[in-house]
Amino acid sequence: MSQTFDVIVIGAGPGGYVAAIRAAQLGFKVACIDEWSNADGGPAPGGTCTNVGCIPSKALLQSSEHFEHARLHFGEHGISTGAVKIDVGQMLGRKNTVVKQNNDGILYLFKKNKVAFFHGRASFVQADAAGYQIAVAAPAAGAEPQTLSAKQVIVATGSSARELPGVPFDEVNVLSNDGGLRLGAVPKRLAVIGSGVIGLELGSVWRRLGADVTVLEGLPTFLGAVDEQIAREAKKAFDKQGLKIELGVQVGEIKALKKGVSIAYTNAKGEPQTLEADKLIVSIGRAPNTQGLNAQAVGLQLDERGAIVVDADCRTNLPGVWAVGDVVRGPMLAHKAEEEGVAVAERIAGQHGHVNFDTIPWVIYTSPEIAWVGRTEQQLKADGVAYKAGTFPFLANGRARALGDTTGMVKMLADAATDQILGVHIVGPMASELIAEAVLALEFKASAEDIARICHAHPSLSEATKEAALAVDKRALNF
Ligand code: FAD
Ligand code: NAI
Repeated sequence: MSQTFDVIVIGAGPGGYVAAIRAAQLGFKVACIDEWSNADGGPAPGGTCTNVGCIPSKALLQSSEHFEHARLHFGEHGISTGAVKIDVGQMLGRKNTVVKQNNDGILYLFKKNKVAFFHGRASFVQADAAGYQIAVAAPAAGAEPQTLSAKQVIVATGSSARELPGVPFDEVNVLSNDGGLRLGAVPKRLAVIGSGVIGLELGSVWRRLGADVTVLEGLPTFLGAVDEQIAREAKKAFDKQGLKIELGVQVGEIKALKKGVSIAYTNAKGEPQTLEADKLIVSIGRAPNTQGLNAQAVGLQLDERGAIVVDADCRTNLPGVWAVGDVVRGPMLAHKAEEEGVAVAERIAGQHGHVNFDTIPWVIYTSPEIAWVGRTEQQLKADGVAYKAGTFPFLANGRARALGDTTGMVKMLADAATDQILGVHIVGPMASELIAEAVLALEFKASAEDIARICHAHPSLSEATKEAALAVDKRALNF
């Protein structure tokens, strides 16, 4: 049986489910198809983000941070606990509950907004006068396949972890983000390949819980996309915590051992090394999900990486077919996917949806957290822009002292002539929350003086942002 919709969304990750809801709000008859299943075989909408990404990683980061605080810092507050232990099963159970709450929340939102949800793999069948025909292969054995059609299709099929050539994920010893989020016990020795966002976040989780973690990074610089001063400060903190990060390595053969794996590599000096570990997480970036879509049936254009080719407005080469999120160019971030999803739904409705790629914030949820928006100091130099920089350390912030976390700083970069804020870079406590003010400032083209003249609550970490703005004009009050 075939059903006709105005808009079909393929994928219910943050790009897809938000696009579906927005399209329904705008009065369209909408279907959203997603193949992700939970442990019981039921639907688990929310994509990578909800199931094996943003949400479960933040749940484990929280649990492991509590554990580390209880072990190392409660004493400072006069709290004694006896031996602090971690029940990994309980921790994973809590994480699974958080994930399930998010899955159920999306199903509820679909109902509330009258989005028809289909559980199964979607693939293009053909294009004809009625629009695009999409087959839905239900995951459950014996379930009826269905065909849906619509004139407008939004592809939001996301991405999957990249494997090292010849080293497939077995999720037992060689783990992707998926396996790295559900280890049943704390490994004694954990190796991570790639010191990007996942490597640092998951490396931090298991280090805090007691693993001896070594991260092997191919590039000679640490967090090359991050402002150099901020990356240096973060690296210092990670070194102090005992997260071992080796830069400039070349990974060679990876062999399975009776227990764990051995990784041959050459270090930055070109010397051959071997690292043995009980578990290995490979976090070397992600690849777009386009296999299984049957893109060739309709002539949907892909690039050499398999990503769907889109213009700045997320239009593909096919009329009425759009693509958003990790499956297209740009940063692989949930909030970027969401913004694109909303903008596309609005464009379909004839509105002027817009995404400002220059003000997309980045956050790395380590401790200290790292967050930034806009251009780094090295980018401004490369672009030949004359700028002023103001920094303010959390060491001089009253709230940070009361929290017991004074690592890091806020750094603000402003145009030397106009004072317009060009970038804000934070390493320190709650950087993930503090960055919102900076995004707003960039979006509204605020000057450093604007932020410096706004009243910030005392005592709060946000005062460090105000002080960094004052420091741009060399008049910080508390440092
Ligand atoms: P996805 O979330 O990948 O969703 C795509 C959906 O489409 C999936 O459910 C998939 O099953 C489905 N699908 C694919 N093909 C088909 C098909 N043919 N038929 C039906 N369904 C299909 N980003 C952040 O912004 N903040 C974070 O803190 C953060 N943490 C992360 C932590 C980890 C460990 C990882 C791996 C990623 C993290 N990300 C984070 C990145 C974020 O998860 C992605 O950018 C985001 O999920 C992309 O959303 P999306 O909708 O494009 O794709
Ligand atoms: P990444 O792109 O952040 O980092 C990959 C790292 O691996 C890079 O530093 C790269 O130089 C290194 N690398 C690549 N090949 C290598 C090799 N053969 N040997 C050694 N090092 C190698 O990718 P990651 O960590 O896999 O995460 C994927 C994406 O998921 C991120 O880019 C981000 O978009 C998203 N994400 C976002 C989070 C957040 O917003 N907090 C959290 C986690 C993931």
